[in-house]
Amino acid sequence: MNLLSNTITTLCIIGLGISLVCLSDGTLVEKNLEEIFPHRLGLTSGLHPSIQPLFTVVNEWKYLDFEYPTFVKRQRAISNGEFVPKNNLPLGIDVHRNRLFITTPRWRDGVPASLSTVPYPAIETSPNLHPYPNWEAHGDPFNPDCSKLISVYRTAIDSCQRLWLIDSGIVNATISLRQICPPKIVAFDLTTDQMIVSYTLPQSQIKEESLYSNIVVDVRDSCDDTHAFVTDVWRFGIVVFSLKNNRSWRVTNFNFSPNPVAADFKVYGLNFQWLDGVFGMSLSFDPISRQRVLYFHPMASFKEFMVSTDLLLNESLWVNGTQDVAQYFFPIGDRGFNGQSSTSGIARNGVMFYTQVHRDNIGCWDTAKPYIRSNLGLLLDAQNSSTVIQFPNDLKVDNEEDQGVWIMSNRLPIYLYSQLDYGDINFRILRTGVASQGGLPAICDPNNKLISRSSKTAIVSIEEGQCY
Ligand SMILES: *[C@@H]1O[C@H](CO)[C@@H](O)[C@H](O)[C@H]1NC(C)=O
Ligand SMILES: *[C@@H]1O[C@H](CO)[C@@H](O)[C@H](O)[C@H]1NC(C)=O
Ligand SMILES: *[C@@H]1O[C@H](CO)[C@@H](O)[C@H](O)[C@H]1NC(C)=O
Ligand SMILES: *[C@@H]1O[C@H](CO)[C@@H](O)[C@H](O)[C@H]1NC(C)=O
Ligand SMILES: *[C@@H]1O[C@H](CO)[C@@H](O)[C@H](O)[C@H]1NC(C)=O
Repeated sequence: MNLLSNTITTLCIIGLGISLVCLSDGTLVEKNLEEIFPHRLGLTSGLHPSIQPLFTVVNEWKYLDFEYPTFVKRQRAISNGEFVPKNNLPLGIDVHRNRLFITTPRWRDGVPASLSTVPYPAIETSPNLHPYPNWEAHGDPFNPDCSKLISVYRTAIDSCQRLWLIDSGIVNATISLRQICPPKIVAFDLTTDQMIVSYTLPQSQIKEESLYSNIVVDVRDSCDDTHAFVTDVWRFGIVVFSLKNNRSWRVTNFNFSPNPVAADFKVYGLNFQWLDGVFGMSLSFDPISRQRVLYFHPMASFKEFMVSTDLLLNESLWVNGTQDVAQYFFPIGDRGFNGQSSTSGIARNGVMFYTQVHRDNIGCWDTAKPYIRSNLGLLLDAQNSSTVIQFPNDLKVDNEEDQGVWIMSNRLPIYLYSQLDYGDINFRILRTGVASQGGLPAICDPNNKLISRSSKTAIVSIEEGQCY
């Protein structure tokens, strides 16, 4: 049937990313909106005017420094090249009670430790990093001991007071990449700071040029019943690790691939291509289907996807080919041109927050509403966003009582392809409270009664042209 030959009077969106088109004769046809209206993409911005929210700069640095036991040890580390201040760039951010956790992957030589803490609330604006849990836990890239931490990319803190991390095992990633140790998933008990899990991914789950760089953790009925999901951003897979069974398996799906159209980045006068696949992940409980779902997106993509976690946790489905279940990974919507996002998180009130790296901004979406552009908000005023956030590279929604959204802004493209000015503020940690008064744009505020909250399974009618 040629859809465009029919007069389309109403668009209906139903369910989890499945779009139904009502034709003039009253029949419903299942289609993706993009298939029907490709020419509409990007015509209107759909960006909602937003109130400037209360983002607080928690810490900021011109360059990073570490807390050495003595001044002499620091001087020695600098003179022998173990510590090269300008090679250290913060990436991951996390928070647990009175500590912030910061990762510094070994993108170049001279990174002395790749996971550290700083105190919170901040005592200093630009504190020295304290290696976590101590200096001894961090390996030497020239003499690698793979039981130690090598190159930590990102972390996840769960409700059982555990800090999980993904260690890529890769050093010199931006100079001459070397996989000196296999990637591993490590967890620390935050009440004792003891390492409680160290799981090395089996060789069969490490492809040539794999880069494992993001992690989320799903705790079910008990702290033992926990699974970690780690994304392979260069070889487009998700490895699922079962804590109870001390096993992992690799999940693949065509929606993990990058979209070449979204691989072109133009920021800060630089132009580069990142063909990065599945990357951002956030977990949520869908009260209607009574299922836990994983939302995910590739880095080079404008779209968001979802899949039931039950599917990912069932190892037997992933042993003998993946064709049968491929259809259960749904695209749910599109953020539009320049809508690339690195990481995301979902707050207790059901609002997803996600980075907008191309827009120097933070997006928000009330997961109870359809994922259409008129339901996507931006936290910062679009004209002024770049003044405090320059390349929001990591985002966390914490588990604290007064829940917060945390951003690590790090100017990564300038570090990689140009030259950071170390006389200028390059790195910032920012926080905003999920419940900040007036902080959320109305469109993603679940408490805003003026904008009706529609259930995901209900049919929503929208005027033609309103979606894009
Ligand atoms: C990183 O690359 C540089 C340049 O090729 C090299 O001199 C250095 O030894 C490498 N470092 C490691 C840990 O392999
Ligand atoms: C988990 O499995 C790995 C091999 O896959 C093994 O080396 C390790 O000792 C196991 N850990 C535990 C706690 O059983
Ligand atoms: C896993 O999937 C298989 C095949 O579809 C199914 O038979 C089995 O019941 C599933 N297991 C669980 C625990 O859901
Ligand atoms: C996978 O395939 C092998 C060989 O065909 C078969 O023996 C095995 O039972 C299958 N496993 C599952 C979980 O379906
Ligand atoms: C944006 O910047 C302009 C000029 O610096 C300033 O006048 C305006 O108040 C800012 N807007 C917001 C919402 O901060």
